[in-house]
Amino acid sequence: MRISGSEAYEGGYGIEEGIEFARAFEPYIDLIHVSTGNYDVDEVFTVTHPSMFLEEGVNVRYAAAVKRRVNIPVATVGSLGDPGQMEEIIASGRADVVESARSLIADPDLPNKAREGRQDDIRPCLRCLNCFSVLLPTGFYTCSVNPEQGYDIELRSAAAKPRKQRVLIIGGGPAGMQAALTCARRGHEVVLCEKSPRLGGALRCEENVPFKRRVGAYLDYMERQISRAPVEVLLNMPVTPEIAGAMNADVIIAALGGKPASPPIPGLGSPGVVLASEAYADASLVGATAVILGGGLAGTELGIYLASLGRDVDILEMTGGINDGGNFLHVKALNVEIKKYGVRMHFNTRADAISPPRVEAEDTQARAKRVFEADTVINALGTQPLQEEALAFYDRAAQFHIIGDCRSARNMERAVSNAFHVARDIGAY
Ligand SMILES: Cc1cc2nc3c(=O)[nH]c(=O)nc-3n(C[C@H](O)[C@H](O)[C@H](O)COP(=O)(O)OP(=O)(O)OC[C@H]3O[C@@H](n4cnc5c(N)ncnc54)[C@H](O)[C@@H]3O)c2cc1C
Ligand SMILES: Cc1cc2nc3c(=O)[nH]c(=O)nc-3n(C[C@H](O)[C@H](O)[C@H](O)COP(=O)(O)O)c2cc1C
Ligand code: SF4
Repeated sequence: MRISGSEAYEGGYGIEEGIEFARAFEPYIDLIHVSTGNYDVDEVFTVTHPSMFLEEGVNVRYAAAVKRRVNIPVATVGSLGDPGQMEEIIASGRADVVESARSLIADPDLPNKAREGRQDDIRPCLRCLNCFSVLLPTGFYTCSVNPEQGYDIELRSAAAKPRKQRVLIIGGGPAGMQAALTCARRGHEVVLCEKSPRLGGALRCEENVPFKRRVGAYLDYMERQISRAPVEVLLNMPVTPEIAGAMNADVIIAALGGKPASPPIPGLGSPGVVLASEAYADASLVGATAVILGGGLAGTELGIYLASLGRDVDILEMTGGINDGGNFLHVKALNVEIKKYGVRMHFNTRADAISPPRVEAEDTQARAKRVFEADTVINALGTQPLQEEALAFYDRAAQFHIIGDCRSARNMERAVSNAFHVARDIGAY
């Protein structure tokens, strides 16, 4: 039987009542599975399914409290994916069974790899909640890091044994790395070129952000997998069409990513405006007060990060809510943090002109002019695909593909999935 040990919100039942339930059911059941929260209460939905803002194993304490008062086996669940931690929970007697949902979606082989002592081969879950956000409207789910999830039927039939191809991949972000791994596992000869000194792409800018630590862990995992695969990696290697042509590849995959979007707002390009990626990478660029232009996931998470560092933050978003890109459950977690840190969200508010430290805007519902002033103005208005740059490579090999953000700037799930499926088909016909 599964219960919440505590509903963990004001007005819900607490752990003492949860223990009473457990004891009442005990004579009739074999095992009690102790979850937490309440599915229908927004502020704790992301405690039941712990968000990226919560620590690993955040709900084990409720299972442990129940276990102390019953005599049947107790299972615990919630943000568990580290085999060492799972082992410790059992060894210390806090629970008899550890359960995992999303860590097994991210890597269904987690238990096998743990048994073999291959912890650093486990693909980490980001706790991004993309899976569940896809599931509710569609009935099936995909995963940001496991490109096979959701394609079980398509992948059931093995892909035809490929003709071996020499594949040049340009760009070492999530899309380029996934394409390189899939091509190498299919037996192709693979060269992966990255213009910067490091693989990882756009998301490396978030490495200092505590609640994005799992993204860093995933990029490190991918980098490790590539280092163990037959992939030739060339770093500090900005590829031009001329260089690409000289590399005599059978297939070119362009995975160049994107650049910051620059809608025609007067003053947006002025030197005082900091890019979101710059602010993520170095928060010292941001003064005591900040106005963030753009309330998408990247802008809103940046606001939360800066507010957690003590900055006073206003976020201007032109639409009527956080632009969630489909991940509406993660927004429940963002709302908890927005409230916690007092980030001010201004929806239906369009920035019209910028002259740092001043931003002139319009409240499009009230049809009223608004002026915001802050030490730092930040552009988090999204990403524009480097599509033209990518197309410049199209005639430098017999076969050419564009993947990831340079095809359409979306998110990691789209980039990784696109890369996997394109790479899997290479040489298969
Ligand atoms: C600030 C910010 C926060 C984000 N947060 C999230 C998030 O939390 N979750 C999420 O799912 N998505 C997030 N995204 C989106 C996500 O980063 C992208 O969807 C993803 O990185 C796309 O991967 P990619 O490999 O296509 O491109 P990129 O990650 O941009 O990688 C492209 C790579 O190509 C290299 N390159 C470009 N041109 C050349 C060349 N000529 N030669 C060699 N190398 C070249 C670049 O240096 C770069 O490393 C965020 C984006 C930004 C900007
Ligand atoms: C895609 C998805 C579907 C889920 N469906 C159910 C469900 O039908 N019933 C249920 O009790 N829990 C469901 N859960 C919750 C999980 O059982 C688990 O309690 C929760 O995700 C926390 O564990 P985790 O951090 O290991 O993901 C679901 C979780 C996910 C991610
Ligand atoms: S979609 Fe995100 S939360 Fe869900 S399993 Fe994949 S990485 Fe984890």
